[in-house]
Amino acid sequence: MRPFHTIIEPFRIKSVEAVKFTTRAERAAALEAARHNVFLLKGDDVLIDLLTDSGTGAMSSAQWGALMQGDETYAGSRSFYRFEQAVRDLTGFAHIIPTHQGRAAERILFHTVVKPGDVVPNNNHFDTTRANIEVEDAEARDLVVAEGRQPSLVRPFKGNIDVDALDQLLARDGASVPLVMVTVTNNSGGGQPVSLANLRAVRAICDRYRKPFFLDACRFAENAWFIKQREDGQHDRSPRDIAREMFRLADGCTMSAKKDGLANIGGFLAMNSDEWAEKCRTLLILTEGFPTYGGLAGYDLEAIARGLEEVVEEPYLKYRIRSTEYLGEKVAAAGVPIIQPPGGHAIYIDARAMLPHVAPLEYPGIALVNALYVEAGVRGVEIGSVMFGLQPDGSEKAAAMDLVRLAIPRRVYTQSHIDYVAEAVIAVAERRDAIRGYRIRSAPRVLRHFTAEFEPL
Ligand SMILES: Cc1ncc(COP(=O)(O)O)c(C=O)c1O
Repeated sequence: MRPFHTIIEPFRIKSVEAVKFTTRAERAAALEAARHNVFLLKGDDVLIDLLTDSGTGAMSSAQWGALMQGDETYAGSRSFYRFEQAVRDLTGFAHIIPTHQGRAAERILFHTVVKPGDVVPNNNHFDTTRANIEVEDAEARDLVVAEGRQPSLVRPFKGNIDVDALDQLLARDGASVPLVMVTVTNNSGGGQPVSLANLRAVRAICDRYRKPFFLDACRFAENAWFIKQREDGQHDRSPRDIAREMFRLADGCTMSAKKDGLANIGGFLAMNSDEWAEKCRTLLILTEGFPTYGGLAGYDLEAIARGLEEVVEEPYLKYRIRSTEYLGEKVAAAGVPIIQPPGGHAIYIDARAMLPHVAPLEYPGIALVNALYVEAGVRGVEIGSVMFGLQPDGSEKAAAMDLVRLAIPRRVYTQSHIDYVAEAVIAVAERRDAIRGYRIRSAPRVLRHFTAEFEPL
């Protein structure tokens, strides 16, 4: 029998949502009205929305069915116990604390365990993780391996944390490190995976210095798939089995269920420490809700419980990772510089390399995002000097990289949508010399990329 090479979407479509087509002039006007910040556009003015893969996925019919099972009892809801069981089976953690999304889990954790002057190491902190540490007057320190900072270098696990640097930090300043984090996959570093070997090494270091080890687990299933594909000795294991080992190497996790929970909202904080869990639950009640719903409806808890099962299915992960890789291959073949190899949930275009005539503090990432929107109605997001350039003292510094992330929502777009996106990126690349930078007209001091207003130069 001849094997088939086409990797098809492992679902058929039961319900559709129309997208709106606009003219180039309409898009230029919409961007102007949005002060040249695509976060301020109306969603209806976007044709293909690759702003984020967070909460934008399509739920399965089984998840929609599960919604009807939602038990909205305030305390002790049946849906909570189902959710708790699903999370515990996967992670093995003793305490499962639901939150309305990932950053709520981060805020509760860091507010509970981080003091002013502390340092929290991570491979790369995501923006909300960093902000929730800095707001406690602590430092969020990125210790990704050197190869993770070289966009064009092809290596299997560019999300790994530099274990020597971690060891040195703990040897020198261990007293000011309340916990060690690793983000899987490494979103801010190109959606690159972390190997099991690296997680095991972090575990050993944390044991040596008696430090808790937490995963930022938003994309744990995609990370598990990469481990299965790329790490010696892992090919015959199921993604679920690998994911279970990843969690069992850690003492806790923060999780946004809007990614690999395959849900539109939700998250959780989970851990083994009784002492920390008690403190976190107290804060949860103050700001999120009672510990058996944590800011979520019973039906959300049902959707997440089911999503956590579907996300580790092999046909899903195979299609998911391949569709991202497919977009990466197409644009790279046309000479567009991207972070190599393609990440799990997104393609990251190296805007600094693509637009060398735009200085980092003229925001090449914003320039490229805006050009892509006007060209084709495709919305991406800058991950660069606007997102990370503002220093805690108010000064500005170019970020390590200026990237444009095209994040692919889960189970939403078909191959022809992806073909269209590739065509749009290539069209923009062909007229790159005409693209100009921006200046910031106004911006808040924290998480400025969401609401900053820009002016073209
Ligand atoms: C790695 C990582 N951590 C944390 C978060 C925050 O999760 P949420 O958006 O649910 O607050 C995100 C969201 O994109 C993320 O990618």
